[in-house]
This record gives sequence, structure tokens and C-alpha cells, in this order.
Amino acid sequence: MDLKETIEGLKEKIRGEMEKISSHKIFLETKMKFLGRGGEVQSLFKGLKDVPKEEKPAAGKLINDFGAWAEKIFDEREEKIKKEELEKRLNSEKVDVTMPGKEFGLGSYHPDTLIKRELVDVFSGMGFEIFEGPEIETDYYNFTALNTPKDHPARDMQDTFYLTDTLLLRTQTSAGQIRVMEKHGPPIKILSPGKVYRSDQDATHSPMFSQMEGLVVDEGITMCDLKGMLDEFAKKIFGEKVETRLRPSYFPFTEPSVEVDVSCFSCGGKGCRLCKGTGWIEVLGAGMVNRKVLSGCGIDPDKYTGFAFGMGVERIAMLKYGITNMKNLFDGDVRFLSQFKGQGGTV
Ligand code: PHE
Repeated sequence: MDLKETIEGLKEKIRGEMEKISSHKIFLETKMKFLGRGGEVQSLFKGLKDVPKEEKPAAGKLINDFGAWAEKIFDEREEKIKKEELEKRLNSEKVDVTMPGKEFGLGSYHPDTLIKRELVDVFSGMGFEIFEGPEIETDYYNFTALNTPKDHPARDMQDTFYLTDTLLLRTQTSAGQIRVMEKHGPPIKILSPGKVYRSDQDATHSPMFSQMEGLVVDEGITMCDLKGMLDEFAKKIFGEKVETRLRPSYFPFTEPSVEVDVSCFSCGGKGCRLCKGTGWIEVLGAGMVNRKVLSGCGIDPDKYTGFAFGMGVERIAMLKYGITNMKNLFDGDVRFLSQFKGQGGTV
């Protein structure tokens, strides 16, 4: 067949194929078919060997021109298909910025965390250092060294989870007092927050809860120091108008021991549901460190005196936020927790 005709036929074929190209992938396949290795143009060049010598230059030129023509056609088509594909993608990825956004439920700080932070803040402002003792304690640190030897009736005040005969889950952060006194001599001024465990459960008790213990030991520490510090604490946590009062109580490791009440911050002392009509709310236990405990830790009780106090963190949270069931503090129910949204800064 005449080379010119063959080329015309191929041109026709290429134009036809151009119509059918619907993606860049198909474009590349089509281009390979004509311009690639072993493609139509190359086989035309191969056919040159059968062309008589004198016709070769003209034939070669025809094929070259055809190749250049095809190259141009394909280049143009490629540009077009790329544009079409980009447009398709942009269309499919179109974002309607006027659509309402999806709301991501932002968390909130747990009321326990809020109160803990507030307490730590108040006490570190008074110069207390933080000390954290272990949650698994020995019977010795949790009881014996706190003047509560075996068979002491005060052991019944706390229902203890024993792990072995000598190991237990600490029932009070007071255990940390002994560790600090044994290790560091006076002056001591520490705050010991942490989880404690007791086999007890009802609306105001949970088998695991948090306490915050304070201990100050130095020369000349008196009950006035304790009272003054408690006044300051109560005003900072419950409000400037709140007063404190001390009632005699008993703890084996303090002598004298007191129960500390604050005037009701809800009714101002007139009597309401929160204070059960009494005008006062019990918030913590405290006292002067028992001489026996001091000397047991190698501290001379004739030279040094000290006070200690311990409070239930959840109890403070319940009072402050008006929570009536302690279960709410441990359930992790987001409907409950969302009430504290925004408090204590960004989570
Ligand atoms: N450890 C006591 C309790 O858990 C509280 C307390 C601490 C009392 C320090 C006095 C001094 O009940």
C-alpha cells in the first residue's frame, strides 16, 4: 500500500481514538500504541528497509512528519485530559463552607481534679511542699507507727483491705506523715494528696477515695497555728465569710484531736438542708501530732511540736458543688461531668 495512504489511514485512526479517551490512563495506553516502542510509527520506520534506496529520503520525511504531527496531537490531548481530570476532582472534592460544622464534644475537668488543684494551690501558697506516699502500705506505716498497734480499738474506725498479714491498701494518707518524719527531720511542712481505700460504700462513701493530708513540725508550733491556717484554708475554698470551729475528737496519732467545722457557706449559718439545720458543716480531722508518734520517728517531742490535718477530697467537692451522691464522682457519666465544662481552664 502506498505510504501516504497508510499514514492518512493512521491519522484517521488517531483522530477516532482521541474521541474515546476518557482518562489519562487510557490516553497513555493510546499514545503508546502509536508512538511507543513497537508502536505504529516505529513499525513504519522498520518498513523503510523494503523501500527502494532512492525513495528512502522522501519516505523517511513522510514518516517523520507524521510522527511530529502525532506528537503534537497527543500533547494537545494530554493537556486537555489533564484539565478535565482536575476539574472532575475539584468538583468531587468541593466543600460547602456554609454547611454547619460537626461538633466535637470537648471534655471538662473532673470536679475531683478541680478541687484537688484548688487545694494544692491554696496550701502551696502557704508554703506546703507536696509529698506522695505509696498506695500499698505496710501495716506499720498505716497503723502501728501512727500509735495504732494491733488490737487497738481505733483500727475499727477504718475497714481495711489487707493484701497480706503485713501489707494493705492504705486507709489514710497519714501513713505518709511517718515516712516524711522518719526521712527528714524538722522543720517539716508537707501536703500529701492521694488515693486511699476502705471497705465502705454508700451515698457518701466509696471504697476508693482521695484524701489530702497536711503535716507541720517545727519548734514552737501550737494549736493556734493550726487554727489560723484552717481559717485561711476555709475562706479560700468556701468563701471569705466562712468561719471555722474546732470540736474535740479522737485520733490515735494526734493529741489533742479535733474535728473541724466550717460555718455553712450555703445559708451563712442560719441553718439549711446542706448543714442539716445546724449552721455548721464538718470538713476535716486534725490535731497536734502525738508525742509518741514524734518520738517513734526519732523527733524529740520536748523540742518539737507539730500539727496534722486530713480531709476527704470528694467530700469537699460534694460540699462545694452541691453533689449529693458520691457515685456521681466515680461513674464517669459525661452528662454529669459536662456541668463542669469551662472550669479550670482548657482541657
Ligand atoms: N487520718 C484521719 C482519717 O482518715 C484524718 C486525720 C489526719 C486526722 C490528720 C488528724 C490528723 O480519718
